[in-house]
Amino acid sequence: MIKLAAATGNKGKLSEIREILRDEPVEVVPISELFDSVPEIEENGSTFLENALIKARYVFDHCGLWTLADDSGLEVDYLGGAPGVKSARYAGESCNTEANNKKLLSALSGVPLERRQACFKCVIVVVTGKDRYISSEGVCRGRIGLSPQGSAGFGYDPLFIPDGFNSTFAQLDTTVKNSISHRGKALADLKEKMHAVIKQ
Ligand code: IMP
Repeated sequence: MIKLAAATGNKGKLSEIREILRDEPVEVVPISELFDSVPEIEENGSTFLENALIKARYVFDHCGLWTLADDSGLEVDYLGGAPGVKSARYAGESCNTEANNKKLLSALSGVPLERRQACFKCVIVVVTGKDRYISSEGVCRGRIGLSPQGSAGFGYDPLFIPDGFNSTFAQLDTTVKNSISHRGKALADLKEKMHAVIKQ
């Protein structure tokens, strides 16, 4: 059995990770079991991959276990890829989701629906050694709606309309969201790569 540290305190993410790896000989250990108090790890990378590696390497250096970490965000074409790695703090360091969504809507004020293309991206890494890691990526394309719709999910969900749908992520059933989302795709990709590495 491989012990896999998960560099996240998010319970939703933990159960998704456990679910996707349920057929593998892997025991997922949450970060809260590895540190006396969960550390604030500064995500100062310029890409999702860099940020995921910063988090995973921090935990790997502390405990020596294979460590999984992810980073994700929203890239809006009209805004040259912003908010990107700054998605969580788009409206300022200690801002909330509402402020971020408001800022995004005003940055796109007057821009018609056909020029509001965007994508969510998620990168997941598993650090397996000092200079070794597995990485996977998932992308979900869509567009930014003209006003917030729906109340499910989190973050930019009320503004993001995935391609092929007329509803936002916040209006879709969680199972539907997970089956098309950037995180769902990255986890599916990771499952295959982990399986190949574990079999070696
Ligand atoms: P993190 O990867 O959990 O740190 O997420 C970074 C930020 O990206 C979040 O705070 C959200 O603002 C945004 N984000 C990432 N994934 C999603 C999603 O599935 N829905 C809505 N917002 C998301």
